[in-house]
Amino acid sequence: MRIRDVDIEGAARLAPMAAVSNAPFRLIARECGSAMTTTEEIDATSLVRGSPRALDIIDCYPEERPIAMQLLGCDAGILVDAAQQLVAAGADVIDLNMGCPMPKITKQGKGAALMRDLDATEALLRAMRAAIRVPFTIKIRGGWDDEHLNAVEVAQLAEDEGVDAITVHPRTRSQRFTGKAPWEIIGDVVRAVRIPVTGNGDVTSMVEARRMMAETGCADVMIGRGAMGRPWVFDESYENLPAAEQWDYRGRVIRRHCQLIMERSDARHWVTQLRKHLAWYTEGTYEAAATRDRLFRAKSQDDVMAVFEEHWERAREPFLSMAHYRNARPALAGVEG
Ligand SMILES: Cc1cc2nc3c(=O)[nH]c(=O)nc-3n(C[C@H](O)[C@H](O)[C@H](O)COP(=O)(O)O)c2cc1C
Repeated sequence: MRIRDVDIEGAARLAPMAAVSNAPFRLIARECGSAMTTTEEIDATSLVRGSPRALDIIDCYPEERPIAMQLLGCDAGILVDAAQQLVAAGADVIDLNMGCPMPKITKQGKGAALMRDLDATEALLRAMRAAIRVPFTIKIRGGWDDEHLNAVEVAQLAEDEGVDAITVHPRTRSQRFTGKAPWEIIGDVVRAVRIPVTGNGDVTSMVEARRMMAETGCADVMIGRGAMGRPWVFDESYENLPAAEQWDYRGRVIRRHCQLIMERSDARHWVTQLRKHLAWYTEGTYEAAATRDRLFRAKSQDDVMAVFEEHWERAREPFLSMAHYRNARPALAGVEG
């Protein structure tokens, strides 16, 4: 698919996820086949104030490109300044978060709250569109709640204001992660606009991604929770590999991901990342719960890696002998986001 002049090769890509879709994980997802990636949300005010956390988020690997950088905010002036800063930092696409459901965000008028005040949102989109030359996209929900399912209206408004593409996670803000994502809303948006629409919600395999595309007509798919601990989800060849090759493939990806995490500067922050991702990577493998406990007690990067290597050695045979478990779909828990 193509977002204005940016070509995106592939049917599925990693969704933005705060504290998950950071640079090492995005690069790993790209290497496994994610067609493109989007940074986790970057608070526009923090960015223009030069907050170290915001600057860390925009510190991308060149190999990730093309890359979309996602802004969170509601003040047009600040968003314009922040978007220009992101373009200068190498963003190929600027995305605006219009879907974050968390009360601490929506109370400030940001995220999904932008789907409620359409006059203000229209002015905001117009200001951002006029200020940036790179493709400009938005990510929306089905609506604020069941009484306000206005994804189609918001999408049409965005298209009229020159937005180049739209991602739809069709749950409402009040649904958060409960229930099944109503994919039919994605189809409604696809039929209502001419710009590309990316579908999102509950996809955990490339087979499901293709099904979402067939059922809704969306141009491609974003995968979020289904990629946590399973970045190989983007590789269509993975599921057909023999079990031993799958295990080796996983091991290579995990070790490379850990290496990338350990190369990042702030050791304390990245040890937390290591533990978290390794806990996801080991999920569903032999005696994972015991390993998780040990991972969270390990203090240094070396200790964490030793716990992982020991687990990986021990869990190999059970993985090979329980072939029917190995492609098990993850249970998509209601992780906050
Ligand atoms: C931990 C977590 C953090 C998230 N952070 C963001 C974010 O920063 N920006 C955003 O647009 N969506 C965010 N989301 C929403 C996801 O991008 C996606 O829309 C949602 O998880 C549904 O897709 P899935 O069913 O494939 O997970 C987050 C989701 C999770 C689980």
